[in-house]
Amino acid sequence: MPGGTTVLVTGGAGFIGSHTCVELLDHGYDVVVVDDYSNSSPGALERVAKIAGRPPAAVYEIGLHDRRALSRVFDEHAIDAVIHFAAKKAVGESVDLPITYYDTNVGGTTALLRAMHDHGVHRLVFSSSCSIYGNAARVPLTEADPADPTNPYATSKWLCEQVLADTCRYLPELSVLSLRYFNPVGAHPSGLLGEVPRGTPGNVMPYLAQVAAGRLPQLRVFGGDYPTADGTGVRDYVHVMDVAEGHRVALEHLDDEHGMRVLNLGTGQGTSVLELVAAFQRACGTPIPYEITDRRPGDVPALVADPSAVARAWNWTATRDLTAMCEDAWRFQELNPSGYPA
Ligand code: WQD
Repeated sequence: MPGGTTVLVTGGAGFIGSHTCVELLDHGYDVVVVDDYSNSSPGALERVAKIAGRPPAAVYEIGLHDRRALSRVFDEHAIDAVIHFAAKKAVGESVDLPITYYDTNVGGTTALLRAMHDHGVHRLVFSSSCSIYGNAARVPLTEADPADPTNPYATSKWLCEQVLADTCRYLPELSVLSLRYFNPVGAHPSGLLGEVPRGTPGNVMPYLAQVAAGRLPQLRVFGGDYPTADGTGVRDYVHVMDVAEGHRVALEHLDDEHGMRVLNLGTGQGTSVLELVAAFQRACGTPIPYEITDRRPGDVPALVADPSAVARAWNWTATRDLTAMCEDAWRFQELNPSGYPA
C-alpha cells in the first residue's frame, strides 16, 4: 500500500497508537494523527519523530465528537485508510464510568464512521479487545468463541463491532478489520517510547514498572483465588511492537475483501500475575513487593488467544517473548522515570 499512502491514526499519541505510528513511518506510510491527549501527551509524538527520523504529516489535537474539526482533517488530507485507537481502555475505570465509556468508545467510533463515509474513505482497522470474550469457559480463544463482555469497556468494544459489522452490510464498499488484541505491554527497544498512563496506572505492567522504580510502594495482586495454576489472573501478554506490526500488516490486507473481519492478536501463551511479577523481577534485577488483595470488579480468570487465524490469513505471528516485554518496559521506565517531558 505505501508509496504516499496516507493513514489517519486516531489516538496516535497513545501507547499502542504511537508505536504503530513508528511502524507506519518506518514502512513508508504518511501518517496523520488526531488525539485529544486525554490519556496521552504530545511528547510521545516527538519521540515518534525522533525514532522514525520524520514526524507525522500532521497532528490535530481534537476529540472525535468535534464533527467540524474531524471533517476538516479529511478535507485537508487524502486519507487512504484509518486506524482507530482513540478510546478509553481501563477495565476497572469503566465499571465506575459506564456512560463515559459508551459515549467515548461507541460515540467516537460512529462519529469517525460518519466522517469517513462523508469523505469517501472506506478502509478501517479497528482497535478491539480480547475483553469481549469475558468469562470464557475455556482458553485459548478463537474468533468464533462467543462474546460475553463483563464490564463497560468490553461491552463498548463489542457494541462497536456490532455497529461496524452492520454498517458493512449496508455499505458494501466498506472494508473493516477488527483486531481483538490481548494484553499489549512492553515498549520500543530504544527506550524512547513506552506506556505513560495519566495518574496511577490501571494496567499491571506500568504499575509493576513504577513499583520497581520505587514510585509506588507495592503491587496489589487483584485476586489469589481464581481457578488458575497459582490462583492469580492469567492473560496473554503481547509485545506492543508486535501489536504495531500487526496493524501495519492489517493495512496490507484491507483490500483482500469487503465487509468486516475479526482477528485475534495474541501470542497464545498465558501468564499469571505472579509469573509476570517473577519475569519483571528478572528484567529489573530488584524484588517487587506485592500483596494479594480482593478481585477487581469486572475481571475474569483467564484470557488467552488462539492466534492461528491471523497466522493462516497473513502468515504473521507475534514473535517477541515475555522477557523482551519486561526488559523493554523496564528500559523505558528507567530512562523516563517521569514519562515524557512536559
Ligand atoms: C491484567 C491482570 C488483573 C493491575 C487490558 C487492557 C484492555 C485490553 C486487555 C486492549 C489482571 C491484574 C492489574 C494491578 C493486578 N487491552 N492486575 N494488579 O484488565 O486484562 O485489560 O488488556 O484492548 O484495554 O486494559 O489488563 O493490566 O489491568 O490486568 O493484579 O494493579 O493483572 O487482575 O489479572 P486487563 P490489566
